[in-house]
Amino acid sequence: MAKKILSTFICSSCEHQSAQWLGKCPKCRVWNSFVNKKEENVENDGKDKKKMIPSTEIKQLGHNRIQVHIDEFDRVMGGGMVLGSLTLLGGDPGIGKSTLLTSVLGTYALKNEQKVLYVSGEETCEQVGLRINRLGLASSFLYVDHETKWQSIEANMKSLKPKLVLIDSIQTIYSQDISGHPGATAQVKEVTLSLMNFAKQVKTSIIIIGHITKDGSLAGPKLLEHMVDTVLYFEADKNSDQRILRPVKNRFGATNEIGVFEMNEKGLSPVKNPLQQFIEQSNSGIIGTCLGKLRCSEREILCEIQTLILDNNSQCPKKAAQGFELNRMNILLAVIEKYLNIKLGSYDIYMNITGPSQKNEKQIDLPIVASIMSSYRKKSIKTGLVLNGELSLSGAIKGSSLAGLNHIVNLEAHLF
Ligand code: TYD
Ligand code: MG
Repeated sequence: MAKKILSTFICSSCEHQSAQWLGKCPKCRVWNSFVNKKEENVENDGKDKKKMIPSTEIKQLGHNRIQVHIDEFDRVMGGGMVLGSLTLLGGDPGIGKSTLLTSVLGTYALKNEQKVLYVSGEETCEQVGLRINRLGLASSFLYVDHETKWQSIEANMKSLKPKLVLIDSIQTIYSQDISGHPGATAQVKEVTLSLMNFAKQVKTSIIIIGHITKDGSLAGPKLLEHMVDTVLYFEADKNSDQRILRPVKNRFGATNEIGVFEMNEKGLSPVKNPLQQFIEQSNSGIIGTCLGKLRCSEREILCEIQTLILDNNSQCPKKAAQGFELNRMNILLAVIEKYLNIKLGSYDIYMNITGPSQKNEKQIDLPIVASIMSSYRKKSIKTGLVLNGELSLSGAIKGSSLAGLNHIVNLEAHLF
């Protein structure tokens, strides 16, 4: 039997344990109190061995889903939330994460008459209650708990047995089993792991809200995104009431879905037919604009590409893109230069894309090129023309909506 020496550090003042030496005890706050206690541990001798199952003998269980009855949310989740799953929602501060998930919890509770729990570490019960009332979702099935200690939350969940739980937000919750303040990497990992285990064991669906950093990614350990079953982002055009719910990882569904909502005084209303939601009809016929078509699973959504080209003859021409990756725009400019023989190097080029396209969406290469051509030629694009298609470095067009258009050299004939 192999023996292994394990080190544990113990506070000589209050006996608090830690895996590593700490200068100050997080429990009793005494300095230099940690001593190293070596323990002998019997290495795995095979007792932990579990029976492995041949894949042919695994029971084929369908995903047991719960429908919230908010279509835009259920569709993004792949047809409802899977029982016992853990979902993470990220988004900018003030974008409407708490509002969206209050609607999700409240609607599910009302429609299904099942208990749900809103755990708020950020707002008091009164603040959460105010929002619930504003959305008209108060019910005896929707419980609110203002709590930040994981052990208390777990005890409350065990006694209430809710079907759906919201943790708002993961960065405010801490476990007393480990040191570090709420939001610290170790705490976020520990609490998420505990939530994951709880969700799987008790078959409760849990949603956690995560803060995002300045560059738009989820704050905290990247591991968080690997641990959970589903990762959603809630996004918006700046100064617009439209909100987009986008899955970036879903173990139980597709990630090319989006949910569209509109923020108003009554909260977030789902937009049932968002085809023309992101375009301004009044921009039709304006030089430099072109409509693009995005295919999101079974739905089509229009977006608008606006380009402004200025012949400033400057030494250092500016290129800027909003709602799109500048690198991709530069690649498209290179393809235009090569195959249409238009020298754009000395021009200032500004581009803006409205709508739910992703920053590196290739479906809208063709309308982007069309919008650049419109601004460069100072001609407006034919009314009603909607384009989509991906451009390769050889100028070939893949998946064009225009019959017979398969290379960029033939594009201009279709535009004006
Ligand atoms: P909130 O859900 O608190 O954002 P987050 O949790 O992402 O930080 O939303 C805050 C904004 O939403 C706030 O500016 C007010 C607005 N709002 C409405 O416009 N209508 C409403 O019914 C509610 C509840 C909020
Ligand atoms: Mg919030």
